[in-house]
Amino acid sequence: MKPRKVTKAVFPVAGLGTRFLPATKSIPKEIMTLVDRPLIQYAIDEARAAGIKEFIFVTSRGKSALEDYFDHAPELESALRKKGKDDLLEVLKDTNMDSGAIAYVRQNRPMGLGHAVWCARRLIGNEPFAVLLPDDVIAAEKSCLAQMVEAYEQTGGNMVAAMEVPPPKASAYGVLDIAEDMGTIVRAKGMVEKPKAEEAPSNLAVIGRYILSPKVLTNLNRMKQGAGGEIQLTDAIAEEIGEGGSGVYGYRFRGQRYDCGSKAGFLQATVAFGMARDDLRDEFSAYLHDTLAQQKAAQ
Ligand code: UTP
Repeated sequence: MKPRKVTKAVFPVAGLGTRFLPATKSIPKEIMTLVDRPLIQYAIDEARAAGIKEFIFVTSRGKSALEDYFDHAPELESALRKKGKDDLLEVLKDTNMDSGAIAYVRQNRPMGLGHAVWCARRLIGNEPFAVLLPDDVIAAEKSCLAQMVEAYEQTGGNMVAAMEVPPPKASAYGVLDIAEDMGTIVRAKGMVEKPKAEEAPSNLAVIGRYILSPKVLTNLNRMKQGAGGEIQLTDAIAEEIGEGGSGVYGYRFRGQRYDCGSKAGFLQATVAFGMARDDLRDEFSAYLHDTLAQQKAAQ
């Protein structure tokens, strides 16, 4: 039997974003811009392409810019209309959500990603759901979540996006212990959040895309603290491994992931997305080329 269709997605955006202070003192990390679109727009577009119809944001104090971003902007729209700027009105369309398609719940203290997802439990109800972390931006021909939805239709259970990382970096991620490697999909026999380097079961790291069974929410009810004293989503998913669990699968997605929660990752993404734009490529690549040549000559 095919698993139930995934139509709801949770976007946890209640973190403090400390790695981007002072910017994140007043700007939510998810509103930071890659070329001309905020990080959250990339995540929303990816979810839409995967058939998601309901978008649930877990927010916190100071995130009102996010809510405004998805609202209509009547004054701006009428000014653009008067000036005949139809192309810009078209650009704005992507930011408008249908009434009722978007919901916000508050996490009143940043107690961890698991806790943030748990805050959305009433809106999720008793059905499978996706989780997207907007600071992981994935450039892919077919949306990463759409790839996962397709694979999930075969496996059911729980699915996490996974990618090989250099072994010394594995301790920065949730890491899969592999029971069976089927190529694109692996079946997990364990999952550890931020393991010590010598204890990492593999170098297959979990990144910020998940399709989860509602049982994970029941596991989160126990509010067990994990790595860093936070309520970890990884731990609640790992409880689904083994007898009585709904199963956990890693999915090796096709695409390039950028860790836009880190400064280096954000800069790399800026270069990649800038270079991918027809309207910017020539000028931008000439600039990069000259800058690198000057640097080399100065050495
Ligand atoms: P991060 O680990 O990147 O934390 O969270 P952060 O607070 O956003 O950033 P730093 O590390 O302080 O710079 C991963 C995702 O989980 C969300 C974040 O908003 C981000 O999307 N999150 C994390 C929550 O919603 N609530 C939390 O309590 C923790």
